[in-house]
Amino acid sequence: MTIPKQLRGGSVPNHIAIIMDGNGRWAQKRGLMRAMGHKIGVESVQSIVKACRQFGIKVLTIYAFSSENWQRPASEIKTLMTLLKTYLQRELNNLNKNNIRLLSIGQRQKLPADILQILEDTIAETADNSAMILNIALSYGSRNEIIRAVQKITAKCLAGSLQPGQISEQVINDHLDTAGLPDPDLIIRTGGESRLSNFLLWQASYAEIYITETPWPDFRRDNLIAAIANYQKRQRRFGKTGEQAIVQPANKPLNEK
Ligand code: FPP
Repeated sequence: MTIPKQLRGGSVPNHIAIIMDGNGRWAQKRGLMRAMGHKIGVESVQSIVKACRQFGIKVLTIYAFSSENWQRPASEIKTLMTLLKTYLQRELNNLNKNNIRLLSIGQRQKLPADILQILEDTIAETADNSAMILNIALSYGSRNEIIRAVQKITAKCLAGSLQPGQISEQVINDHLDTAGLPDPDLIIRTGGESRLSNFLLWQASYAEIYITETPWPDFRRDNLIAAIANYQKRQRRFGKTGEQAIVQPANKPLNEK
């Protein structure tokens, strides 16, 4: 683990989640096809995964394809799927070498069969890695995730294995795609828009949100350091007063033991 000197004064977030926006605008500004923005965006993914691993981040969730992205032109969907396929094929060795486990959230069964197969193989082949989790949101929408969780919980209630009165925050956490993962501490959105875009709505309850104008293809290690340094200046109160929050360590999520 190598923590850059700018970040040595505070703790790094456990879980960073990123809305990788601005690929299309980055390309269009340069007179390039939108596909080029996504292609260079993959280089940003590689750079940020490497940096997170070095900084000791435990979970990195990246929003690679939303449930709404299926409405984009077929050619753009094809580009994104091809980039994802190539990324997974190329990165397997690197993930294993760096002890990084791959997970995904979202309705992955909606992905083309060849990509689903590679994704599931990569998840299986990295399952024993323990230094960091790279969690890719694919065909992911938070409302859809919540609907599916409610359906699973309701089925248990109807079957009698769960009573409605037993439904707690923990029960809901356990039925989301992110079951077992800590909530994000820091959500970064590149490309300047101030929206969550149906990303981790339940899990984002106490996340610190950092929005940067920098488009995703330009977002690299130094930009990540700036985002974490900004996070370290925040006081996380989790609904308490400032004085109480100082007594309770700032970066400790409510559900952390
Ligand atoms: C948003 O930019 C970005 C996406 C919809 C896709 C993000 C995908 C990648 C970075 C590459 C594939 C990922 C992996 C993990 C290999 P936008 O196109 O909406 O940008 P705009 O707002 O400027 O149009």
